Amino acid sequence: MSEKTGILLLSHGSRLDDGEEVIKAYKEMYQEEFPEMPVEYGFMEIRKPGIPETIKKLTSENDLEKIIVVPVFVAHGLHTKRDIPGLLGIESDFDDSQISGHHHHHGHGHDHGHDHGHHHHHHHDHDEEEVEFDGEIILTDPLGIDRRMYEIIKDRVSEHL
Ligand code: NI
Repeated sequence: MSEKTGILLLSHGSRLDDGEEVIKAYKEMYQEEFPEMPVEYGFMEIRKPGIPETIKKLTSENDLEKIIVVPVFVAHGLHTKRDIPGLLGIESDFDDSQISGHHHHHGHGHDHGHDHGHHHHHHHDHDEEEVEFDGEIILTDPLGIDRRMYEIIKDRVSEHL
């Protein structure tokens, strides 16, 4: 761990402010615990700052060799496996055959590549910039299955029992 490493906490992005309050709070918690570490938060889409903009900010203020991107999402999905690697300009082992039920669509002649009613986004509508970084970009797993998350789920239920 060194200041040669920057951290990007990545949220989906929303037109409402709630998501930014959350990701900003986690960024501030991290910053408080590790004041020497460059850390920013950003959004995959819809909201600013986006991925290229956030990486530019991290790299302009620090001489970084590595950026660790943490998708603060509950689970993997098309965004974490396909869209975010694409935006970061990094390798992804994702291919369309991994979309469950994909083959059922073949006869329909449409909807290929769509995610079963998941909202469709146009990632580049308001973020034409590309990520420019010569160092290593690591995209971590999302939050996933963890007892600490389960404790929160139990709390939410308990609050209403
Ligand atoms: Ni989305």
